[in-house]
Amino acid sequence: MEKSRKKLKLGAVLEGVGWNYVGWQHPDMPANASENIDHYIQLAQLAETSKFDTLFLIDVSHVGPGNIPHYLSMFEGVSLMSALSTHTKNIGLSATIASSYADPYSAARQILSLDKISKGRASVNIITSNPGGMVNFSRGHLGRADQHPMNREFLEIVIGLWDTYEDDTFIRDKENGLFLNYGKMHNINYKGKYFSVDGPLNISRSIQGRPVLYTAGTSEKALENAAAYTDGIFTHGETMVETVDIADRVRAKVESKNRRPENFMVTVSQNPIVGETEKDAMDKYMELMQLSPRNSLPRPQFFGSAKKVADQIQKWHEAGAMDLFLIRQDHPHGLRDFIDLVVPILQDRGIFRTEYEAETLRGNLEIPYPRWKKFD
Ligand SMILES: Cc1cc2nc3c(=O)[nH]c(=O)nc-3n(C[C@H](O)[C@H](O)[C@H](O)COP(=O)(O)O)c2cc1C
Repeated sequence: MEKSRKKLKLGAVLEGVGWNYVGWQHPDMPANASENIDHYIQLAQLAETSKFDTLFLIDVSHVGPGNIPHYLSMFEGVSLMSALSTHTKNIGLSATIASSYADPYSAARQILSLDKISKGRASVNIITSNPGGMVNFSRGHLGRADQHPMNREFLEIVIGLWDTYEDDTFIRDKENGLFLNYGKMHNINYKGKYFSVDGPLNISRSIQGRPVLYTAGTSEKALENAAAYTDGIFTHGETMVETVDIADRVRAKVESKNRRPENFMVTVSQNPIVGETEKDAMDKYMELMQLSPRNSLPRPQFFGSAKKVADQIQKWHEAGAMDLFLIRQDHPHGLRDFIDLVVPILQDRGIFRTEYEAETLRGNLEIPYPRWKKFD
């Protein structure tokens, strides 16, 4: 199987004060970063300056006292991405929605609206999420076993609703009083075990065909749903070998559905700490460790001098472990350091772009435009 023929795609995970317990205490981190729109605008524009493909927001469906500070005070993703769309021009905007808790009609409508607002840059990660959220969304009668079948129904409905209208449905002919061609408006009449949705949706088709769609997971069921319906999977392996194994398995499933694996984005995230030298990286790590009462912050897997981290990324990419690499930040300058120090090396080596190729997210990800499909 052909692996990673395309250039590497990069995404920036926006997670306010960081995905750890201590980063918010760092002197350079605004303590309210997770609810600070100016902070997010700054990061979004930074990522766009460096030609990142997309912004990405990870979400949570239930919280309690044990959660990381970021989860305890954060923005809802579609709202945040809508705001960021008006401060950026090229970068993709990905929110996360839980199929176990959300409603597919509303989700389809929100994401297609984001897509229109951003002129073709929206994407969504439709995850099962964790069963803990059942208590917040009136789903107490459902269990873990329902989550993947629900996710499948949710994905089918969203895709169907996004194709409510054919591309050339709207005529908007003022002189002749013709707004649209009703023959090109379609219901889905979906009757599932979990969801019943007739349609139509009241928003025209995306200029990128459909917003880019991901799901997340590592299990066979998650891989199966991803391969059948989505443009990519957000997944995780402990090591490169484990990640390549998941990537190979999901690409084989994609192929078995008569789809082209090279148009499917295997997506992984890491939280690099980089410096010009190994010592610089260690100093940054120690800044965080000193904030941790038990010195318990795990050292990131991608760590060290910029060249070392660039080598590691190149190795993972060439091995087929990832098509889209999402950068999370533990250190307040994590994204900026990655952009200043690692991205130029990846660009010099021809692994990452120096200019956006397209206007839409799908175009930049090099995923072909999906033709309108009648729902069946
Ligand atoms: C890489 C990755 C990212 C995930 N992101 C989220 C998330 O943003 N929010 C959430 O509630 N769950 C998230 N999950 C959890 C999944 O939705 C799901 O609960 C979990 O993967 C169990 O499903 P699986 O056993 O089929 O993989 C994520 C899981 C993985 C592997």
